[in-house]
Amino acid sequence: MSQLILENLRKAFEPGTLNEKIALDGLSLEIAKGDFVTILGSNGAGKSTLFNAVLGKFPLDSGSVVLDGEDITWQKDYRRARSIGCLYQNPLRGTAPNMTIEENLALAYTRTASRSFFAVHKRDSAYFRELLAHLKLGLEDRMKTKMGLLSGGQRQAASLVMATIARPKLLLLDEHTAALDPATSAQVMDTTRRLIAETGLTALMITHDMDLALDCGNRTLLMDAGRVVLDVSGPERAALTPRGLVDLFRARAGHNLSDRAMLST
Ligand SMILES: Nc1ncnc2c1ncn2[C@@H]1O[C@H](COP(=O)(O)OP(=O)(O)O)[C@@H](O)[C@H]1O
Ligand SMILES: [Mg+2]
Repeated sequence: MSQLILENLRKAFEPGTLNEKIALDGLSLEIAKGDFVTILGSNGAGKSTLFNAVLGKFPLDSGSVVLDGEDITWQKDYRRARSIGCLYQNPLRGTAPNMTIEENLALAYTRTASRSFFAVHKRDSAYFRELLAHLKLGLEDRMKTKMGLLSGGQRQAASLVMATIARPKLLLLDEHTAALDPATSAQVMDTTRRLIAETGLTALMITHDMDLALDCGNRTLLMDAGRVVLDVSGPERAALTPRGLVDLFRARAGHNLSDRAMLST
């Protein structure tokens, strides 16, 4: 069953001007329930715009977005936020830096449940502690620490728990480890993979790392100029190397990926 169906998405920024930029150019995509899809593409390919379209950050010029059988094309972004979890490069985006980890988790937790009610119950507190302890990052002992005081890696790990605590219908990760040092990035990636595997969440992850893109999840997309130019899964993907990916891209997109010097290996 398809968890996400995108049909013919089109979005032009600054239309009718010299600066017109077609960020999504008739993009169609179906994502199965439980899929963990990695997305590659040079800078400006439209990857973040794709996420923003799913999140309802702007009205589309055309096309439709169906999530878990529901047409959400015209649904307001704050309503979608209840069923879509997302993480960005900047660890502070989407969290309240002056609130404690526990309060942030409670906020994320109650956002989907009874929205009029906001309190950290003892029972919830124990639950949050358990979730954090599971990450093995020592966050369970820092529940009263303000989010803004955590290290980048700890913040991303805590944000990941926030984004998944209410079991969203979809998890969107937009280069969420790109701003971290390599060791921390690897640690957060590890946590990410574990969380997705354990929860069976349907997830899309944008990354610049080709090895990671081929190693994580079960399907890889390559975007260029607002379209998906490559979509690999199964044995074809299993046999693919970053080098092979670059060659395939050149064949499909008609220009060299490294010419754009944006996709690093
Ligand atoms: N809010 C915006 N206003 C104008 N142009 C935008 C806006 N958002 C994205 N774009 C343009 O759309 C194109 C795709 O951007 P984006 O989706 O951010 O690319 P990616 O995430 O793949 O690097 C780029 O040319 C970018 O400059
Ligand atoms: Mg982007």
